[in-house]
Amino acid sequence: MAKQRVAVLFGGRSGEHEVSVVSARSVMSALDPARWDVVPIAITRRGAWLSPALSTAAFDPGVARFDGEIGDSVLRSRAAMDALASCDIAFPLVHGTYGEDGTLQGFLEIAGIPYAGCGVAASAIGMDKALMKALFHESGIRVARYLVIRSWEYTLTQNLSMQAIEESIGYPCFVKPANGGSSVGITRALSREDIPAAFAAAMAYDDKVVIEEAIHGREVECSVLGNEYPEASLVGEIEPDRDFYDYDSKYSSTSRTGLHIPARISPATAEKVRQLAVRMYQVMGCEGYARVDFFVRDDGEVIANEVNTIPGFTSISMYPKLWAASGLSYPDLLTRILELGFERYQRRARR
Ligand SMILES: Nc1ncnc2c1ncn2[C@@H]1O[C@H](COP(=O)(O)OP(=O)(O)O)[C@@H](O)[C@H]1O
Ligand SMILES: [Mg+2]
Repeated sequence: MAKQRVAVLFGGRSGEHEVSVVSARSVMSALDPARWDVVPIAITRRGAWLSPALSTAAFDPGVARFDGEIGDSVLRSRAAMDALASCDIAFPLVHGTYGEDGTLQGFLEIAGIPYAGCGVAASAIGMDKALMKALFHESGIRVARYLVIRSWEYTLTQNLSMQAIEESIGYPCFVKPANGGSSVGITRALSREDIPAAFAAAMAYDDKVVIEEAIHGREVECSVLGNEYPEASLVGEIEPDRDFYDYDSKYSSTSRTGLHIPARISPATAEKVRQLAVRMYQVMGCEGYARVDFFVRDDGEVIANEVNTIPGFTSISMYPKLWAASGLSYPDLLTRILELGFERYQRRARR
């Protein structure tokens, strides 16, 4: 088969910029060189897209140093646009806002370039915890009790907001920006005294704040892959080394967070998780791949947490590790994800 050119898009304007650089580096080194020509395109923190040559240089010591030189508009990033136009497919590996939220996918749709992973709507829903929970709840999927409070509601009627939280949720509760990732802006509030700081932290990222009952149980994750007929991997478990799986426990080198593959749950519960993972994937209209996260209570009850449409993608990240444990190697997984991107593109082009 003739080699195909794949644009790996990474970096980006969100707080998860560095994580994305690490994922991209792993993906680029694992893509089968007999099958793919890799074209790196780095996106700076200010939103400029770098040429492949600068993008390669950007791995070390980081994309940020190019910000001043290039400006901040993708529309002025001529060399990157030419490189993208020469590619057969794009692999977006940008987490968070302007990457995982459907905007980058929309850009690729308009440009007419096939791409890996979820489309516009699924990406946008997956980036908004309030929309995502409403959709799951509506579909009869158990989620933690939650409340959505807008920043202006909170600012105007702090006491009413507190009252609403205490009446419908109680403590401890989780306070999150609706739009987030990597646990950024999330607080576990133990009492009324914690609420103002928790809201301030969440409102730094979004005007929409989600407050959830704290679920006591294991955190498990399942990798899903496919378009019309998605398949679920084995179930893995995260064992955070602190109160919850916060930013440091996800990324700090001193974190003692444990991964268990398979998860320490019964085979029947694992099967329930896998079926629910596929159901959530389909309800959201996911395509390509996504990681689906849950809580499992001690009595075996499974509660949906969230779907990540661009999960961490280093070779030691949960998404590829679960597939490796299920018999699909990291390079083969990447090829499969790209094939699914082509398949969707061709199916739509036939209409
Ligand atoms: N309702 C909840 N009950 C218990 N722990 C929670 C709850 N919501 C979030 N957490 C903890 O916070 C972490 C991050 O929350 P999550 O909603 O997954 O946001 P992110 O998109 O940033 O990963 C979870 O992995 C979990 O450890
Ligand atoms: Mg999460």
